Amino acid sequence: MIKVGIIGVGTVGTSVANILKDNADVISARAGQEIVVKSGVVKNLNKDRGLDIKLTDNVDDILNDSEIDIVVELMGGVEEPFEVVKRALKSGKAVVTANKALLAYHRYELARLAKDIAFEYEASVAGGIPIINALRDGLSANHIESIMGIMNGTCNYMMTKMTNEGVAYDDILKESQELGYAEADPTFDVGGYDAAHKLLILASIAYGIDAKPEDILIEGIENVTQEDIAFAKEFGYAIKLLGIAKKDGNEVELRVHACLIKQEEMIAKIDGVMNGISVVGDKVGETLYYGPGAGGDATASAVVANIIDIARSGKSTPMLGFDKPMEGKLTLKATGNIESKYYLRINVSDRAGVLAKITKLFEDNNISIETMLQRPASENSANLLISTHTAFERDIQNMIVGIALLEFVNSTPVMIRMV
Ligand code: HSE
Repeated sequence: MIKVGIIGVGTVGTSVANILKDNADVISARAGQEIVVKSGVVKNLNKDRGLDIKLTDNVDDILNDSEIDIVVELMGGVEEPFEVVKRALKSGKAVVTANKALLAYHRYELARLAKDIAFEYEASVAGGIPIINALRDGLSANHIESIMGIMNGTCNYMMTKMTNEGVAYDDILKESQELGYAEADPTFDVGGYDAAHKLLILASIAYGIDAKPEDILIEGIENVTQEDIAFAKEFGYAIKLLGIAKKDGNEVELRVHACLIKQEEMIAKIDGVMNGISVVGDKVGETLYYGPGAGGDATASAVVANIIDIARSGKSTPMLGFDKPMEGKLTLKATGNIESKYYLRINVSDRAGVLAKITKLFEDNNISIETMLQRPASENSANLLISTHTAFERDIQNMIVGIALLEFVNSTPVMIRMV
């Protein structure tokens, strides 16, 4: 019999306990032995969770319990769970976590510490989708060319509702919090950090890249307006928050931001709280993974899968998928060197000479315009809608600063990268 201790019995932890009970028949058949939750740690012992497991508010009750084989960490946060997980590993207990923020900062230290002790984290990326398993095991024969996907259910839910139903940003954010999709601090979702944490985990498995959130380009959806969503729709695009990892020679670019994607692309069709990730391997070609990226049962499904796996074998494959580091290691591409096509919306006073001065800045920054359209915005102002050919990020950023300074430009230009 395998005994589990759950540290953090919230929405996901409760689902883990319930799934282990509800599906005990199939789980023990698959694991080859019975799996039971021995105890759980909560902050508030007075709250009724409808569970028949022993609850405590002291992590030591789990960490010092020699009968517990697997510690499931669902606390949230970074440094506190880091200490708890280190202690669990040091006492020889296997660990399963859903904590992407912890891994975004400490995955390499944890991999070194875990060595042969099982440390699994399938639920940390895209909830119920077995993307870690696919990338680390199913695609291990491939050089990974790219990973691109919708990795945050909250943002996808919000963008879908804003696009299809015209719901206002604040209302829909509140709704996704009530539905339990959003992080405790929803700025992690809408600011792109949650997706970035997940992207960094995937990038370690695919490329062995040791980057932290501060090292990569992260933008959220806070500045995506109804106006731009409507223009995107009119021209056949959807706007999605994407995590993108792409290999270019010996460099890897990592970025999270809102993107304009042609409506006919598969990723553009992934709506609501669902996640979808495309992985391109040099031998397999493109593979696509779709499923629920948030929610108690979907996330717990991945946690329990890890528990079953550990019960089966007792040990882990190398935590980040590499037994030893690759030769000729890949390095992180500088943000300024990232290349993309860009959509720009520039609100200007509608008078003679404005367009010439704006296009001069495009020329000065070596940015080539692909399409351009002017739409009246009010009696005296117009929106210039411009898409570019492929350009460097540093040139676009530089040009936007220059455009914003022009006296006939009414507000900071809107820029959305195109896929
Ligand atoms: N807040 C996350 C999301 C939950 O919306 O996708 C799953 O990580």
